[in-house]
Amino acid sequence: MIVKWNSWSLNKHHHILIKFAVAILFSGLTFRLYVAHYNGFASDLQSSMPEKDQVLEQNVAIPENKEQIPIEKCDLFKGDWIPNPSGPIYTNESCRWIEEHQNCMKNGRLDPGYLYWKWKPRDCELPLFHAKRFLELMRNKAWALIGDSISRNHVQSLLCMLSTVDRAVEVYRDGENKSKRWHFPSYNLTVSNIWSPFLVTAAIFEDINGVSTAEVQLHLDKLDKAWTDIYQSLDYMTISAGQWFLRAAIYHENDAIVGCHLCPGKNLTELGFVYAYRKALHYVMDFIVKSKHKGLIFFRTSTPDHFENGEWHNGGTCPKMSPSKAGKAEMKELSKILYGIELEEFDKASAKAAEYDVNLMLLDFMNLLLSRPDGHPGPYRQFRPFAEKKAAVVQNDCLHWCIPGPIDFLNDVIMDIVVKKSLHYPIRRSVCVGISRSCEAETSHLPGYN
Ligand SMILES: *[C@@H]1O[C@H](CO)[C@@H](O)[C@H](O)[C@H]1NC(C)=O
Ligand SMILES: *[C@@H]1O[C@H](CO)[C@@H](O)[C@H](O)[C@H]1NC(C)=O
Ligand SMILES: *[C@@H]1O[C@H](CO)[C@@H](O)[C@H](O)[C@H]1NC(C)=O
Ligand SMILES: *[C@@H]1O[C@H](CO)[C@@H](O)[C@H](O)[C@H]1NC(C)=O
Repeated sequence: MIVKWNSWSLNKHHHILIKFAVAILFSGLTFRLYVAHYNGFASDLQSSMPEKDQVLEQNVAIPENKEQIPIEKCDLFKGDWIPNPSGPIYTNESCRWIEEHQNCMKNGRLDPGYLYWKWKPRDCELPLFHAKRFLELMRNKAWALIGDSISRNHVQSLLCMLSTVDRAVEVYRDGENKSKRWHFPSYNLTVSNIWSPFLVTAAIFEDINGVSTAEVQLHLDKLDKAWTDIYQSLDYMTISAGQWFLRAAIYHENDAIVGCHLCPGKNLTELGFVYAYRKALHYVMDFIVKSKHKGLIFFRTSTPDHFENGEWHNGGTCPKMSPSKAGKAEMKELSKILYGIELEEFDKASAKAAEYDVNLMLLDFMNLLLSRPDGHPGPYRQFRPFAEKKAAVVQNDCLHWCIPGPIDFLNDVIMDIVVKKSLHYPIRRSVCVGISRSCEAETSHLPGYN
């Protein structure tokens, strides 16, 4: 089943027919659901798409007088998931960059419902990701996604979306296949994925299955050169951390051991991961603020997991098949703590960044992803987990995201910010207030671009 999702602009009627066929193929059970969606949305698509396309192809004209641009307050991170009958712009067939463990389609996940939602900010329209426009905007630019396996998950989603227009070429990988770099030749865009799960210097000890064999040796005040060495060569980057700070670790500062987390019998002070995360992020932010960097630096908050009835290691699963209702998703205690520290450290840095003329913005995808318990591989991190035995007990992944899946919409949001920035539309610095706070990346409304 080969579907060219990107051909829609050429022949939308054909496209809608294909989607219809795909929906029927996917599952008989959910058929009625999709018919209902198409009845509601196909007409919307037909009436709105031609104008939208014209606008996008025309390169939106920038009004002469910027003062007259109507400013519409819109928090891109506050919204809901709404049905999206057109589904993802790529599939497991059209993208070669999907990691086996997150290739839910290939691995046999049968319910396709999780593919047919899109993020809708409450107070404005979010244009769907437009790969060609994004690539044109990024001509001769260098991007990097820096962090842990969620950043890797994210970079694969981005590569898949961009590959609908230009074929990416892998141009670099480190000895362990952890950090990689790709090049989009027609646009001379470079995209790197920098493996740096702590952002600070860490010696990690694990066996080939990724199981820890000793505490991590973590230097809280020394940034990881994996990212700081290329930092100034980047035009755009997302930086993030999170889950890895929960691990057992010995903490160093100023080259001396200061304490640890989870190290019984070592006669060291238990400082806790909160101490370490705060310190590490403080040094990261301090570096960014004083870096005189001229590009755009996104700090992305950590992402939530949805293990139920247990955790990763003791049989937790994520059986939900649709997004949570707005405001109904409950953040887990550990997520809340990590997230709280991230917002606090970002808050402190963001005022300073403005002073130093550094473009630091927050990507707060917590709500967007918290409401997608249905978007994880679950048992489908393995190829056909139930092929041999229907009741097989398999390891679930309720932390990473299926590709295609909800994580694709991080790119829709990022594109919207980048497009508006590139047109010099006023974007206010992100502001966060309180812990159940709302973080806003306020953007002005762009006439025609939606
Ligand atoms: C893609 O997924 C489908 C099931 O949705 C499967 O039949 C097909 O073999 C997969 N193709 C690849 C290349 O992974
Ligand atoms: C490609 O982009 C890089 C910056 O990312 C730039 O240094 C280089 O000169 C560009 N190459 C060409 C052929 O324009
Ligand atoms: C890195 O990936 C390549 C190609 O998939 C593989 O041949 C090689 O063994 C991998 N290296 C390591 C250290 O895993
Ligand atoms: C534990 O550390 C303290 C302070 O460093 C030291 O005084 C004490 O002797 C140590 N105890 C053991 C059993 O090593």
